[in-house]
Amino acid sequence: MVVSTTLNHRIFENVVTERSRSHIEKKKLIGYNPIIQKIKLAGTEVFVLRLDLIHPLISGNKWFKLKYNVEEARKQGCDTILTFGGAFSNHILATAVACKEFGFKSVGVIRGEKASETNSTLSEAKKHGMQLAFVSREDYDLKENENYIEGFRNWFGNFYVVPEGGNNELGIKGCGEVLPKENDFDIIFCASGTGTTFKGIERSLKKDQKLFGISVVKGVGELNSLPNMISDYHFSGYAKHTKVLLEFKNEFEKEHNIPLDYVYTAKLFFAVDDLISKNKIPDGKKVLVIHSGGLQGNKGYEERYLLIPNRNVNDAQGNDCLG
Ligand SMILES: Cc1ncc(COP(=O)(O)O)c(C=O)c1O
Repeated sequence: MVVSTTLNHRIFENVVTERSRSHIEKKKLIGYNPIIQKIKLAGTEVFVLRLDLIHPLISGNKWFKLKYNVEEARKQGCDTILTFGGAFSNHILATAVACKEFGFKSVGVIRGEKASETNSTLSEAKKHGMQLAFVSREDYDLKENENYIEGFRNWFGNFYVVPEGGNNELGIKGCGEVLPKENDFDIIFCASGTGTTFKGIERSLKKDQKLFGISVVKGVGELNSLPNMISDYHFSGYAKHTKVLLEFKNEFEKEHNIPLDYVYTAKLFFAVDDLISKNKIPDGKKVLVIHSGGLQGNKGYEERYLLIPNRNVNDAQGNDCLG
């Protein structure tokens, strides 16, 4: 585990870059060397687990959700992995890249119009060989229905299915490996969409450790009813924002030199900052915040909401912030 107060060479050594990727054996899983950075939020020391630095495109929690699924697909003798997601899904792109890396064909069943295939996330997924199938919202709601899934076999043959967001038992199992084995954190925060990451981390907690999820999804439902799921920081709902959130994200990135994504981690860090400011976190507790990546989605998000036009893909991956 690397603990650092600033971004330095030790951190970059651990990033799997495009150049170094060609040296990775196809069948070997991505090595995980946890990188922890110390920062101050609202005047209080907190630690950040930089999962965003694991890999430029299979970043954050994505690899943890995929690793045992990839293994299982291989065990079942499938040469194709099929999964589901929205048009800007981090999981879709991560699956495309992981499949290419580990020698599988990939299919993404995408909720929405074919017109979105030119957005930065889906065009990158296609570049990595993913075949895309666009379905209506009504059809997409059938994504867990076995007969519906069977229908895709006529087109794509014998595939292994990873559910939306990598949300299955094997995804949870992988997320049980997010926390460094040796750690003495008292309170841990993560961003939650499907709750897979939260459930996996929860299983790996030591006695007396507490995990809180920051839900980025509005409304009542399975996620928001999980114990220790905080649902006050969704900013009007999934993939929505307010001016206050954008200002926080900008300030945070400038101050800490850590890029955030709009959908998950900006809301996560805002929440932790706010909870500290409101004295909701007891003094003297060692706090870990899990940066779960998602930076690839920034470019598409900015295009969609006309936030910062003309940003490059590499900028969206945070390279502008990393200098
Ligand atoms: C960057 C990022 N952070 C957090 C999450 C939330 O993870 P989960 O769906 O496991 O709750 C996601 C979604 O997978 C994500 O893409």
